Amino acid sequence: MIYARVAGTGSYLPGEPVTNDDLVARGIDTSDEWIAERTGIRARHLAAPDVTASQLAYEASVRAIEAAGCQPSDIDLIIVATSTPDYIFPSTATLLQARLGITNGGAAFDLQAVCTGFAYALATAEKFIRSGSNKRALVVGAEVFSRILDWNDRGTCVLFGDGAGAVVLEASDKPGILATALHADGSHNPILCVPGQINRGSVTGDPFLRMDGQAVFKFAVRVLSEVAREVTAQAGVPLDAVDWLIPHQANIRIMQATGRRLGVPMEKVIATVAQHGNTSAASIPLALDHAVRDGRVQRGQRLLLEGVGGGFTWGAVLLEF
Ligand code: UT7
Repeated sequence: MIYARVAGTGSYLPGEPVTNDDLVARGIDTSDEWIAERTGIRARHLAAPDVTASQLAYEASVRAIEAAGCQPSDIDLIIVATSTPDYIFPSTATLLQARLGITNGGAAFDLQAVCTGFAYALATAEKFIRSGSNKRALVVGAEVFSRILDWNDRGTCVLFGDGAGAVVLEASDKPGILATALHADGSHNPILCVPGQINRGSVTGDPFLRMDGQAVFKFAVRVLSEVAREVTAQAGVPLDAVDWLIPHQANIRIMQATGRRLGVPMEKVIATVAQHGNTSAASIPLALDHAVRDGRVQRGQRLLLEGVGGGFTWGAVLLEF
C-alpha cells in the first residue's frame, strides 16, 4: 500500500505585521475593537507592490524542502493553489519550479479553488502519489490577496492578508493521508467573487473581491462541520481521536461555531487568524507550519485540515502526521 505522507512543512509571511490600528492610521474607517470582536484578527502581513505569489511560494517551499530533508531536484510534482497568480499564464507553479532551479521536472500546475485551494491541492497530490506515478510532491498555497482588495470597502479589506505555506508530500509505506473529501456547489458563486475579466487589454467588470459576509459565514460553518464528519467517518476515525483541527483561517467565530457543532474544544483547534488574517489558500499550510514549528503538532498525531471558499468549494483532508 502506498501512502502519501507529509515529509516537511514551511511557510513565509512578507514584511512586518500590519495591525488593525495601522489600518486606521492609513485612513480606513474601522477600529481595532470592531475587527477583533467580529473576526479575531489583530494583524496581517501585506506584500510590497513588487512581491508576487511565486516569490512567497518560493520562500515557503525552500523551508518545506529543507524540513523534508530532500533537494528541489527530488520533487517530481508541483501544485500551487492560488487565486492571485503572478500572471494569467504561465502558471505560478512553473515560475516556482524555475525559481527552485528544477529543470526538466515533473508536472507543475496551479489549482484554483480559492480558500479551499490547499485542501484541493493536497488531495490531488495524494492521488498522484497513491497511484504510483509520482514520488515527491511540493504542495503550496500562496496568495497576495492585498492586490484584489478594494481598500475603500471596509467590510472586506480588513479581513485578508498575504503569505504562503508549503508541504512536501512523499510516497511512504506508513500513513499518511487517511481520507480526503472535496465538494463544490457553483450555484453559490455570487456571495464571494472577484467578477472582473481581462478583455482586449483592459479590465471589464469588477476586479475587486466582493462578499456577502453573513451568507458566507453561515455557509462556512455548515459545510466545515459536515465535511469534518464525512472525512473522519470515511477513515473510521472518531472525531475525538483527532489531535488537531486546522481549519481555514477566515474568522475565529467561524472556527468557534464549527468547533461547537463538532464537539471539538478550541484547545484542539490551531488558530493563526489573529496574526495572519485570512490568507485564502495559504491559510491552512501557514497554520500547520506554525504549529509544527512551535511544537504543538507532533509526528504520529492525527490532523484534520479543512477549508471553504469561493465557488463555493469546500473540502477536508485527514492525515497522520
Ligand atoms: O474565506 C472565506 C471568506 N470570508 C469569510 O469567511 C467571511 C465570513 N463573514 C464574516 O466573517 C462576517 O460576516 C464579517 C466579519 C465579514 C462581518 O461581520 P458581521 O457581524 O456579519 O457584520 P455586518 O457585515 O453585518 O456589519 C455590521 C456593521 C455594519 O454597520 P451597520 O449597518 O450595522 O451600521 C457595517 O457597516 O458593521 C459595519 N462594518 C464595519 N465597522 C467597522 C463593516 N465592516 C466594518 C469595519 N469596521 N471594518
